[in-house]
Amino acid sequence: MDLLPAAPVTALLAAIEDTGRDGRRGGYSRPVYSAAERDLREWFTAEASRRRLSVETDANGILWAWWDLPGDGSGSESAPERRGALVTGSHLDSVPGGGAFDGPLGVASALAAVDLLQAREKDGGLTRNRALAVAVFPEEEGSRFGVACLGSRLLAGAIDPAKALSLRDADGNTFADVVRANGLDPDLMGRDDDALGRIGDFVELHVEQGRGLNTEEFTDAAGRGPAVAVGGSILGHGRWRFSITGQGNHAGTTLMTDRADPMVAAAQLIVAVRQTAAAQAGARATVGRLEPVPGGTNVIASRVDVWLDVRHPEDAVTAALVEKIHGQAQKIAAFEGCTVELTEESLSGTVHFDAALQRSLEQSVARTVPGAPVLATGAGHDAGVLAARVPTGMLFVRNPSGISHSPEEYVEDADAEAGVAALADALQDLL
Ligand code: GLV
Ligand code: MN
Ligand code: MN
Repeated sequence: MDLLPAAPVTALLAAIEDTGRDGRRGGYSRPVYSAAERDLREWFTAEASRRRLSVETDANGILWAWWDLPGDGSGSESAPERRGALVTGSHLDSVPGGGAFDGPLGVASALAAVDLLQAREKDGGLTRNRALAVAVFPEEEGSRFGVACLGSRLLAGAIDPAKALSLRDADGNTFADVVRANGLDPDLMGRDDDALGRIGDFVELHVEQGRGLNTEEFTDAAGRGPAVAVGGSILGHGRWRFSITGQGNHAGTTLMTDRADPMVAAAQLIVAVRQTAAAQAGARATVGRLEPVPGGTNVIASRVDVWLDVRHPEDAVTAALVEKIHGQAQKIAAFEGCTVELTEESLSGTVHFDAALQRSLEQSVARTVPGAPVLATGAGHDAGVLAARVPTGMLFVRNPSGISHSPEEYVEDADAEAGVAALADALQDLL
């Protein structure tokens, strides 16, 4: 077959650089099933089809682009050749006002790695023993429906489909309504053992989201770290929502002594979160989302939803921290004449990637990026959720600033290409 010339990953990313730009926040807002994210899915489908991958959307809305074994022209989902396949990929949705690389770098790098592998197969430099698929997982960030990694959680059976389908976005739309409007059948969503059986190993390439590759331990005399690292573990993390209820009222007529203002309680709670997490070694706790109801300048809110993100390597410590913060929230709310309700939205324990897959990735990556270290990450990933069901591993590409979930997230072109080379070698060794 005639092959496409190998596309630099930077050219693939350039093709989507205007999709989902957020003029108000800066960066990109690409919530799942928004026009922007649907455009990105179409872009992915077109790029995968150009590489003669056969693209399918499964019951959970995950896109799979299959490079079947030579001679297997069936393209059938149940083709035995697809069992135990090698899968790579990432996500295309973003946080509100996010960077260009979190998610799309992994997807674009997977396509660019397919180019290299197809060329090697054509030249006789690659013999495959299994099929390869590029997967795109929906709602990795949980920025629309609140639960991170919703697609991979549904696939892996890590969330009750009824709970997932009842989640609502900020406009009150349920996940069930939104997936139905996007051509999926809510009744078919949930754990999919056939799809899981098709994943022999999952390797996700991702932009590094901290300064892990720029620490003194790894940098050279010029202060430059290696371009790529192999993932070792994902920090345990979860999301909780405090709903603080008070008395909605008029900003001008309500005396300061007569108020039960949930916004004041929320402010005190946020400070308590910072102090409690700062006192616990290794803990990270964030309130990045506050939703006052009704949200008017001259209105004392009747309710404020405070979203809390807590992370710690030991899951028991995370649980104890949240319990402590809950106790503080109850005291703070009562003092303000408010009540508080706590809901756990999602929880993921600390994940150590599959040891054999990690070793294979280390050996492969060492050829292209000598000195590539093994790195733990504080960010969550679909590879972390899937680790409960199948062997998973990750590659991280250097981020000079260490900034992520921000328009300032950055990857140098040369590092992105080094990531593709490392991914292609790693996949080749696993094929
Ligand atoms: C996703 O990037 C997360 O860590 O929340
Ligand atoms: Mn992210
Ligand atoms: Mn991500």
